[in-house]
Amino acid sequence: MADITEFQVRKDKLDETRRVQHEKPAPGDGQILVKVDRFAITANNVTYGVVGERIGYWKFFPVSDEGWGVIPVWGFGDVEASNHPDIAVGERLYGYWPTASHLVMTPGKVSESRLMDDTPHRRELPPVYNSYARVNNEPGYDGDTDNDRMVLMPLYATSFCIYDFLKDNDWFGAARVIIGSASSKTAIGTAYAVKSDDAAPKLVGLTSPRNRDAVERLGLYDEVAAYDDIESLGGEISTLIIDMSGDGDVLGRLHKLLGDKMKYTSNVGITHFTANEMGPDFIRERSAMFFAPGHIQKRAADWGPGEFEKRAHAFWSEASRKSRSWLTIQEAHGFGAVEHAWRDVLTGGTPADSAWAVGF
Ligand SMILES: NC(=O)c1ccc[n+]([C@@H]2O[C@H](COP(=O)([O-])OP(=O)(O)OC[C@H]3O[C@@H](n4cnc5c(N)ncnc54)[C@H](OP(=O)(O)O)[C@@H]3O)[C@@H](O)[C@H]2O)c1
Repeated sequence: MADITEFQVRKDKLDETRRVQHEKPAPGDGQILVKVDRFAITANNVTYGVVGERIGYWKFFPVSDEGWGVIPVWGFGDVEASNHPDIAVGERLYGYWPTASHLVMTPGKVSESRLMDDTPHRRELPPVYNSYARVNNEPGYDGDTDNDRMVLMPLYATSFCIYDFLKDNDWFGAARVIIGSASSKTAIGTAYAVKSDDAAPKLVGLTSPRNRDAVERLGLYDEVAAYDDIESLGGEISTLIIDMSGDGDVLGRLHKLLGDKMKYTSNVGITHFTANEMGPDFIRERSAMFFAPGHIQKRAADWGPGEFEKRAHAFWSEASRKSRSWLTIQEAHGFGAVEHAWRDVLTGGTPADSAWAVGF
């Protein structure tokens, strides 16, 4: 049997990477062996590495060498061998994978549409990450949208959650929403949701000078400003901040400018992970982390089984169709391609209107 290939990164030095190979195991009783086909790499995956210790992302696909880890990714896999009565060889699954060529899974709860990986070490982790879609059973499943789905579904599902959370809180009484790192896909998805709501406050996108034109061309934000121009936004309007940048300087300047008019800051991401130190102007008492899996669990309880997935899928489907007008997904294969995509995203080299779909 051929080997399993793993792409590992040093937990404390994400630009140090290595190839690790080990013998491919045969699935045990009730287990399946999945060949990971393709997956997306975006800033979201870099964040998994940056907060890996704090939030637990290294726990999904642990490796024996403590200093090294495997970054989780969203994508598709095909069942290569099965020792499970309900899962056939050849089934295609969408979900959360290691940056590796294969994964051994232990399906627990299996329904027509989904399966849960019940491998013991994953049980304590948020259920959304352990749930896999059995895509061949989805009505109208179209493999031509696989790349869109692996890149945009996890991000736009988050956008859907953010919109749902903010609307549920009456926009924290704000007359304006400012989105930081407005060129990120999670931000753009949020902008699609806000834009489609006539009752939503005015929407401002904040981005780096190099991405300003591209963000303006999207036509989703009522106003676009570069980080250099924060002070020109004016501090008199009551404002809600949805921040994907995690940039201490950007948030400090915004909070200083707004003072009491800063109604709430939702800290969603850290695309500027090297600048993630909050200074004295950052208003902690009206800022809070947003964690999409937590919101999904809340809505699963409020709305009943399957309803969140249905609504998020409908939102993703519409927004990803619209995204085809600006997004180019680059598909590439082989260990070198995975390594290249990782470094490209890690160093901020991937253009905002582009994304990677890679596999071994
Ligand atoms: N809390 C949650 O539950 C949750 C869920 C999903 C995603 N997120 C977070 O949302 C953020 C966005 O993720 P995404 O996958 O949507 O991002 P993405 O589309 O890959 O974002 C690309 C943008 O991020 C900024 N950026 C990326 N790398 C950079 C670097 N090295 N240096 C400076 N700027 C860089 C740039 O935006 P600008 O020039 O506009 O700053 C760039 O255009 C991530 O931090 C992710 O973890 C959080």
